[in-house]
Order: sequence, then C-alpha cells, then structure tokens
Amino acid sequence: MTGFPDPTYAALAARFERFLPATLERIPPGLLREAVAHVLLGGGKRFRPVLCLAAAGIDPGAPPEDDGREPALFAAAALEWMHTYSLVHDDLPALDDDDWRRGRPTLHKKYGEATAILAGDALHAGALVLAAGAPCGSEQRAGLCALLAGASLAMVQGQMLDTIPLAMKGGTAGDAGPSVEGILEMIDGKTGAMIATSLRMGAVLAGTGNHPGWPAFGRLLGRCFQLRDDLLDVTGSLPELGKTPGKDARQDKSNLVSLTGVGDATAMLDQLRSQAYLVTDTLPGDRAFFRALVAYVVDRTA
Ligand code: IPE
Ligand code: IPE
Ligand code: MG
Ligand code: MG
Ligand code: MG
Repeated sequence: MTGFPDPTYAALAARFERFLPATLERIPPGLLREAVAHVLLGGGKRFRPVLCLAAAGIDPGAPPEDDGREPALFAAAALEWMHTYSLVHDDLPALDDDDWRRGRPTLHKKYGEATAILAGDALHAGALVLAAGAPCGSEQRAGLCALLAGASLAMVQGQMLDTIPLAMKGGTAGDAGPSVEGILEMIDGKTGAMIATSLRMGAVLAGTGNHPGWPAFGRLLGRCFQLRDDLLDVTGSLPELGKTPGKDARQDKSNLVSLTGVGDATAMLDQLRSQAYLVTDTLPGDRAFFRALVAYVVDRTA
C-alpha cells in the first residue's frame, strides 16, 4: 500500500516491504506458502511494523545489505505475521464471515476454509519463529517472544469477547447488554494488545522497553485505531478499505459506534486523540513522529 501522508511512515514501511517477502522462505514451497503469500503480501498499512521500527529508532534509509543484521526488522515481520494470522481467522465464516481483505478475496474464499485455518496457524507459529531468530542477544530474543505470545493471547481473549458477548466478565443470558467499559475492554484485547506490544518490542531493542509511556500510549492508540475502524465500517467503501463495509451493522456487532452513534463515537475519538497527544510528550524517541502517528490513525480513510 502506498500514499502514506507522512514521509517517515512511508520510508519505514518501504524498508519493511523490502524485507518481508524473504520471510516467507520459512514455509516450504507449495500451496501453504502460496496461501500465506496471498494475504501477507496483499497490501495492508503495515502499521504494527512501523510502530516497532519507529520505537526501535531504526534508520529507514539504511542499505539493503544491512537488513539481515537488523533485529527490529525481524520483530516487525513477526508482528505482521501474527497480525495477519488474526485477520485470516477473523474473516472465517465462524467469526466475521468476510469475503474481502486487503483488496483481495479472503483466504477461505480463494483457497477454502481448511487451507485458511492452516495458513493462519502457519502465520501464528512462523511469527514466533521469526522473533526467536532475531539477530540480537538471547535475553532480548526471549523478551521479544514473550511479548509477542502474550499479545497474541490477549488478542484472542478480545476476539472472544467480540464474537461471544456472553464471555464478557459476569455475562449471563439475562445481561443488560453492552456497555462502554465492556467494549473498551474488548478493544484493548483484540486491537490494543498487538499495537502496544509493537511499540514495546521496538523499545526493547532500543533499550527503552521499561518506559511507562509505552503501555499508556499503546492503549490509547489501539482505542483510536479501532474506533476509526468501526467508523470506517459505516462511512467507507470497498475500494478504499479493501474489505466490505457495513458488516458490523449487518452482523449486529456491539461497538462504540453501534452503542453511542456516529456523533458520540466521533467525539470520543477526539478526546482519545487529545489524551494520546499528551502521552507522546513523555515518550523516548521521535515524539514528533509519534504525534504524526496519532493524527494518521484518527484521520485515516483506509
Ligand atoms: C485490521 O487491522 C484489524 C483491526 C484491528 C481493526 P488493519 O487496519 O491494520 O489492517 P491492515 O493490516 O492494514 O490490512
Ligand atoms: C478485528 O476487528 C481485530 C482483529 C483481527 C484481531 P474487526 O473485525 O473490526 O477487523 P476488520 O474490520 O475485520 O478488519
Ligand atoms: Mg472481528
Ligand atoms: Mg472483522
Ligand atoms: Mg472492523
């Protein structure tokens, strides 16, 4: 995907795109690799890799021969593999039952459900293989793997709350229904965990992994990201989004837009944006870029 408004974002995403195709070699040639390539190389904003690379403070203009020695690229690829697994399974008929992803037919539409499930499994396992193979010290590698596995587990718990609302804490058949708090808990899991961890994995490599600003920024960025996604489901189009809009309403999904309406949800997004800006002032690294990331997430149309 091209056309990122910020030149730093575009440069980091370009360095990542250069590195990503070779990571597919971890899967033997054949149908499984072909199916994974269909979705992994099918576009996408590469948002989590960009977060990781930015928090690691890498040079987007480094020459190609440096890529194999750059641990942040391995961490970024691991994040994109894990994220892509979550998309493939999210699209399955048993979950969101979607036909389009990244401007292409979903994996189960093109290759069938069994291959889609197994391609998701391969992306999940391969993500950990990539993190475990990052060219850095063993302590940092263990840290990357633990963070990624933890985020994946939190993502699945969020997906469970999204898919089976009765799984919400204390949920019973006679429940009063969704609340803002319950939906925020679901978002922090299904979307926020991977976004916060993307920053944290990059920060671990830069030696700032324990800075308290990362989890706070990651949670706010995750909420902004999902709220914009939910608004785009109402206002966007298939060519812009690369996925079918209007699905949340058709499937009667509980989210902040369906619960509070477009107007209130947009106001909430504005508040979250202001809070996120405040946290950027505390972060180590390129604060101006982290500010630009907030603006990108909130204002994006794809
Ligand atoms: C989609 O993620 C799933 C959500 C968390 C809303 P993205 O919007 O980052 O999807 P890609 O990676 O750009 O395809
Ligand atoms: C999915 O949220 C988040 C994950 C994949 C974990 P959505 O279901 O809203 O994402 P889209 O709209 O299908 O991309
Ligand atoms: Mg979903
Ligand atoms: Mg979905
Ligand atoms: Mg959505």
